[in-house]
Amino acid sequence: MSLRWIGTSWKMNKTLAESRAYARGLRERLGDGAPEGLQPFVIPSFTSLAAVAEELGPGSPVLVGAQNAHWEEAGAWTGEVSMGQAADAGASLVEIGHSERREHFGETVETTRWKVAAALERGLMPLLCIGEDARTQRTGGSAEFILGQAAGALEGLAQEQLSRVLIAYEPIWAIGSAGRPATAEELATPFERLGAEYGGRVAGLLYGGSVTLGNARELLGIDGVDGLFVGRTAWELEGYLRLLELAAGH
Ligand code: PGA
Repeated sequence: MSLRWIGTSWKMNKTLAESRAYARGLRERLGDGAPEGLQPFVIPSFTSLAAVAEELGPGSPVLVGAQNAHWEEAGAWTGEVSMGQAADAGASLVEIGHSERREHFGETVETTRWKVAAALERGLMPLLCIGEDARTQRTGGSAEFILGQAAGALEGLAQEQLSRVLIAYEPIWAIGSAGRPATAEELATPFERLGAEYGGRVAGLLYGGSVTLGNARELLGIDGVDGLFVGRTAWELEGYLRLLELAAGH
């Protein structure tokens, strides 16, 4: 069976001390290895990235990621962080195109394409986030929409490059405190279509949006779902550890 990816983005949360405590706890509780068949990852804020990587230690079974990075390698881009800088701080993966960045920070299909290419060039694994809004879902356009976002961001990649990409399908209406989790029924067609296009070609297809301890197992049971990308439920270490347990016992 292929690896199951279970990861969390902390979004704009946690001080340095809180981030260190979480990472230290994760290291202590997991020991040297991840539960069999799982690939855990945590994505802190930039301010905590290096500290989290340091606390987890070299050779940790937990990968560390960045929530975003710029497509240019260096230069006059005030406030931005490059792929190389993220890698230097300890990231081995980078989130690209989360819906919050598309909505509030002008991320487009074009910028996600530039970022995916830059990440691959730098040896970082892109975690491409795609997802449609509630209106698109209501009118039955989910699969077309997300396939369009994915195709735009991954255009022109060779199979070897694609094999280093993770895709997280995160319907906008399912994300955050105003969201509701997608049902297995709602996810069947999107994952079927994503699987037909990218199954076995990318490193994994993940679901994200209001994942809880109550629905994680069911979500992991959906055909084509290789993992979960989690916000609130994993912001406390106990929640994340519990999710790993549930996924391992799946
Ligand atoms: P949530 O966030 O689990 O808190 O809904 C998911 C995400 O934005 O990736």
